Amino acid sequence: MRSADSGDLWWKNAVFYCADIETFYDWNGDGTGDIRGMTDRLEYLNDLGVTCLWLMPFYPTARKDDGYDITDFYGVDPRLGTLGDFVELVRTAKSKGIRVIVDFVMNHTSDAHPWFKSARRSKDDPYRDHYVWSATEPKSSPKDVVFPDQEDSNWELDRKTGEWYLHHFYKHQPDLNIENPKVQEEISRTLGFWLELGVSGFRVDAVPFLFAKDAVPGQIDVFDPFQYLGDIRNFITRRLGDAVLLGEVNVPYKEQKKFFGGADGDGLNMQFDFIGMQQIYLSMARGDARPIAKALRQRPTLDPTSQWANFIRNHDELTLDKLSDTERQEVFDAFGPDPDMQLYGRGLRRRLPPMLGGDERRMKMAYSLAFSLPGTPVLFYGEEIGMAENPEIPGRLAVRSPMQWTGGTNGGFSSAVKRRLTRPLPDGLYGPERVNAADQRRDHGSFWWFMRNLIYTYREQPEIGWSTVEILKQPNRAVLAHVCREESGWSMIALHNFGAEGCIVALELDAVAPGSVLVDLLDGRTEIELDKSGRVELDLGPYGYRWLRVLGPEEEPII
Ligand code: NOJ
Repeated sequence: MRSADSGDLWWKNAVFYCADIETFYDWNGDGTGDIRGMTDRLEYLNDLGVTCLWLMPFYPTARKDDGYDITDFYGVDPRLGTLGDFVELVRTAKSKGIRVIVDFVMNHTSDAHPWFKSARRSKDDPYRDHYVWSATEPKSSPKDVVFPDQEDSNWELDRKTGEWYLHHFYKHQPDLNIENPKVQEEISRTLGFWLELGVSGFRVDAVPFLFAKDAVPGQIDVFDPFQYLGDIRNFITRRLGDAVLLGEVNVPYKEQKKFFGGADGDGLNMQFDFIGMQQIYLSMARGDARPIAKALRQRPTLDPTSQWANFIRNHDELTLDKLSDTERQEVFDAFGPDPDMQLYGRGLRRRLPPMLGGDERRMKMAYSLAFSLPGTPVLFYGEEIGMAENPEIPGRLAVRSPMQWTGGTNGGFSSAVKRRLTRPLPDGLYGPERVNAADQRRDHGSFWWFMRNLIYTYREQPEIGWSTVEILKQPNRAVLAHVCREESGWSMIALHNFGAEGCIVALELDAVAPGSVLVDLLDGRTEIELDKSGRVELDLGPYGYRWLRVLGPEEEPII
């Protein structure tokens, strides 16, 4: 980790936090969160230790996919505020050392976007080629469809013009034709626009669909989507040297490599580790660390200009699509047996705490693991206080209920009357009376303080983000023992117990310099001695977790 790089590649050891302006904090009391509310709560994020805020779509929208159906790429949904408010938000965040990235959703538009409205008027409309059309009905199988509850094909007949248009998601989200130079120009213009307004990069939506070749019957296609991804990367870097592209790429590890680009980093900088995330759930369901250990062994080692984004939950369903049918069933049985908790046959519309029956030991173990792996952690709002979903909200949006700030009216999210709230808050065990930020910030034993401590410990060890991982041998199946190493010689051992029984983990650390000690980073920085041949025995509680920094005999104590 060279210090020059660590400034430019700031995202290698940032702490990302995803929030939806609509559900974060309602500043004007109309029932919907807004940009001024988000700005108001930046100090909270600063205190928590967040260094990069990822904003979910806040653009003008037809409101059929929670903002992912955009009608104008250059604006702000008037319910949420104005462009002026947006610039203030980014400016204020910057002054607190928080960068802002925004969702970039140009795989598709809304069908209410003026381009599509124009395109469907006639086959020779100037906007026709902004979208992908086929004169005959292309073959599409139900397994190609992302939302099988509502769609049965990726192609929809447009009655007026008698041709089919491509839509990887809902039929009201027609895919843009990124092969069209005019669309490419709009893409650059959009990216450039938001960069000028101060953002530090983009979370790129639906990457494998955006950078794909879609076979339109009868057409020969020479377009190379990866070359185009490289062009976008270059364009962004010209505009802002240290801008980040964080991609949503849920494909097997081998296929992920090509989205990072070549050794000169001409692709995405970061990709979510969907595979590792799913294997963590399988390990939790089984009380057996081997699935995640195996995934980590297979996870490609990245060059320094690329990075994994580690996460436990996000704003969508917990997808388990990369597990086998029997593995997925095991996770369903453990964490979402009720059919109403399941979605699309592949996922769970739940947040972590209720899946684990509110067992804080297991919750802490899961987050500790996500933060201890090489990569950059990404949190979804409310995870820091152990918020649950609201199952009353239909579909995926169950996990997008309003942030729970206080135990008061509407969880402190809004002063509007309840029926005007953009979405209802949950009641009962996980309702705001019991789970809220204000109470937890006053209680140093709370989950919020656990998360804050984890965040600061991660930030104090920037090498984690630059490290490579090796799984250590030890006999307990329930335990993952891994070591992160970074080129300066820094190393950290982490232990995670997926089992309900405490145990002793015996390690042989023969590569460690004689006279080294292990410093317990999460527990009072106590020092543990190794014997002469590097052997050590470590206690690990039920669902326990430990981060142990290896401190060489010549090194200064950790302050
Ligand atoms: C992925 C987003 O995460 C999801 O919420 C959205 O519905 C689709 N892309 C379509 O934009």
